[in-house]
Amino acid sequence: MKKYTAAAAAIVLAAVTACGADGSDGAGDDGTLTLGFAQVGAESGWRTANTESIQQAAEEAGIDLQFSDAQQKQENQIRSIRSYIQQDVDVIAFSPVVETGWDAVLLEAQRADIPVILTDRAIDSEDDSLYETFLGSDFVEEGRKAGRWLVDNSDGPTNVVELQGTTGAAPAIDRKEGFEEAVSGSSDIEVIATQDGDFTRSGGKEVMEAFLNSHDDIDVVYAHNDDMGLGAIEAIRAAGLEPGEDIRIITVDAVRAGMEALAEGEINFIVECNPLLGEQLMELVEQVAAGEEVTKRIEVEETTFTQEEAEAALPDRQY
Ligand code: AHR
Repeated sequence: MKKYTAAAAAIVLAAVTACGADGSDGAGDDGTLTLGFAQVGAESGWRTANTESIQQAAEEAGIDLQFSDAQQKQENQIRSIRSYIQQDVDVIAFSPVVETGWDAVLLEAQRADIPVILTDRAIDSEDDSLYETFLGSDFVEEGRKAGRWLVDNSDGPTNVVELQGTTGAAPAIDRKEGFEEAVSGSSDIEVIATQDGDFTRSGGKEVMEAFLNSHDDIDVVYAHNDDMGLGAIEAIRAAGLEPGEDIRIITVDAVRAGMEALAEGEINFIVECNPLLGEQLMELVEQVAAGEEVTKRIEVEETTFTQEEAEAALPDRQY
């Protein structure tokens, strides 16, 4: 049996004091932190920029990134999180495909003493001890910005069709809510159809084709992301109409392809959603691994773009 001397005990005590809440510094033998990241998928230009930001920031911070792509399926994401728990990674981060249904797997992470960070999308749970922090956007405010622009730029009856993001996903729920709130005071603006386009260009195109087949009085498309808006442009053109003129288009994200369409007048207004979360995420990973307290909700700064603003911003746009 090992006999501790007073000197050895002092060293152990010093080490524990310098460590995280669970008595470990959260790093491997060589000091490298391992982050298990369960990404939503690769559904949009925004997502690609977000993934690149996370991968690059992990490399720069010297964090070992275990990355998985859930292909927009909650069951895949849950499987990845369980595998990160099995691997005993230092921190788990993920961008939840949908808002609900996470408590059981997050409880498993908590029991294994692995801190969890939510990034980009939040969850709907009564128990906020299941995660350390959320880093991302205020999606309700994004929806409000879209609605306010329409109120300010409409005169007379305005029929809106809405291309919703993935059913059950935080940005789809919140952007719908924020938009409805902002236009609720205007009796001229009416949402005449709303449907899930799954945040993809093909989904946006397909749903827009169906809208055009069943409605001949569409004035505005409100798409929950650029990709669906770009799909809608294809459908509008195929129907012999001019996107941006015959039917005005409002989108969310401000990725390069969306900004180019805005600069060309095919989209009329874009609300920015910032995907460059990598650097801040890695700082949070280091903090929670060290057992530090972090702010429970951290929102990133975002703006909006008109056609002129898109033209000015495009040369320096990173994504
Ligand atoms: O959660 C962020 C949203 O997810 C982006 O707006 C959209 O493009 C993506 O798929």
